[in-house]
Amino acid sequence: MKTEADILKVTSRYLEPYNKGYTIEGSCCGSITYAEATYMQDFIKKHGLKNGIEIGTGTSYSTIHLAFVLDNLITVDNGAIATTIGHEYGYVRGAWNAMFLDLDIHNVRFCMALEEIDEKIKDIDFVLVDGAHTPEAPLKDCLDVVPHLADRHYIFMHDTLNPHVMDAINERVKAGYKMEMITLDEKDTYGMAVMWKHVEPVEKPIEVKNLKLRPMKRIRKEK
Ligand SMILES: C[S@@+](CC[C@H](N)C(=O)[O-])C[C@H]1O[C@@H](n2cnc3c(N)ncnc32)[C@H](O)[C@@H]1O
Repeated sequence: MKTEADILKVTSRYLEPYNKGYTIEGSCCGSITYAEATYMQDFIKKHGLKNGIEIGTGTSYSTIHLAFVLDNLITVDNGAIATTIGHEYGYVRGAWNAMFLDLDIHNVRFCMALEEIDEKIKDIDFVLVDGAHTPEAPLKDCLDVVPHLADRHYIFMHDTLNPHVMDAINERVKAGYKMEMITLDEKDTYGMAVMWKHVEPVEKPIEVKNLKLRPMKRIRKEK
């Protein structure tokens, strides 16, 4: 089992040139935080989720944490980040691959667009939307992922401090999703929300069958 220290060691090594010196403890500007990553890991384990799509590989800090707890993860990134930091997409992709190999991660597949995902994949029960934050992108990501979703699925939206992300959430709530904001310490989050549509199973009271009533024993009165 890899520890956070292992992850930081590997991400620092590969992200330092990639971040041009902005690497802080292995994470980088733009990545999700440790608190957000571990919150999602606990959520995935608690709900028994198996197959994920992540939109926005970025530094791959989120990808690594998700890959440790999911059976399969498809991560989608069109390489816009590479252009921003002045590298070729291939360079960034090379860094991701090297990090995954160093951490013994073999359950991640890359795509440059959601359209590349095989249409036969329809069992996705976990999604993280953390791609472009333009006015259109967060909602488009939520819609484009629909053909792959299992009936029971959860969609995490990162960066809810960004109004375009909140607009997308509000649109999906209008379309029938339930939503909860994730409460984390202010310094530990850029704002995160989870959406789901299925009806949560209500915990049933334990059924007691063939219950035979026995006469109560008389309590002898003390003399
Ligand atoms: C905020 S970063 C993701 C951070 C990442 N989750 C992490 O923890 O490091 C956003 C990423 O979305 C990618 N991106 C931007 N527009 C995209 C698009 N239309 N499709 C897929 N990825 C996109 C960028 O290249 C960038 O890597």
